Amino acid sequence: DRSIKIAPSILSADFANFGQEIQAIEAQGADWVHVDVMDGHFVPNLTFGPPAVNAFRPHVKTVMDVHLMITPVDPYIQAYADAGADILTAHIEAGPHAHRTLQAIRAAGMKAGIALNPGTPAEAVEHLLDLTDLVCVMTVNPGFGGQKFIDMSAKIRRLREMIGDRPVHIEIDGGVDPKTAPLVAAAGADVLVAGSAVFKGGSVSNPSVYGENIHAV
Ligand code: DX5
Ligand code: ZN
Repeated sequence: DRSIKIAPSILSADFANFGQEIQAIEAQGADWVHVDVMDGHFVPNLTFGPPAVNAFRPHVKTVMDVHLMITPVDPYIQAYADAGADILTAHIEAGPHAHRTLQAIRAAGMKAGIALNPGTPAEAVEHLLDLTDLVCVMTVNPGFGGQKFIDMSAKIRRLREMIGDRPVHIEIDGGVDPKTAPLVAAAGADVLVAGSAVFKGGSVSNPSVYGENIHAV
């Protein structure tokens, strides 16, 4: 099913009220809840780890989509499975053994995603497509919400071609708003992460990015 899914990133939510924020975005029509895990090492910012993700779990009624911006990944896979992640995405740049990592994520009972930084070509994940359920195309350099969108349309089109009829989602992460969403959807993306377009100043204040603008693209 290639209908467009919206995955608000709680990176831009009120960190003291995650439970309420998650409930609010789901009430407004969020398809998935995107959780950005940063380690202060792979990216120059630090967020939360497995105990926090486990605390989000009972609030998420849809799909908990966990994006790991950490290295190493493998020692933490089981902890995120135990914390209740439905989808676990690791970066291709996070280490030399993405193939092993994706197998381990699936073996732990989760869907497996692979993310690409803006500087990484589509071909870097070509040999992983049978092991992955989702390719996350970063349209900002990861680390912070609210950055300017970098156009990766050519990469998205190339990936859609490479994926063929495999059941693999293309997720876009960074700078997605009602202006950029139609571009990435036209290029072949089907899951749109949106942080600051959904949460402004720590609360859900822009419900119009759902339905009317983004779901309709
Ligand atoms: C970037 C994160 C994104 C980010 C998206 O490092 O992975 O999920 O929070 O935020 P916006 O939509 O504000 O670019
Ligand atoms: Zn993310």
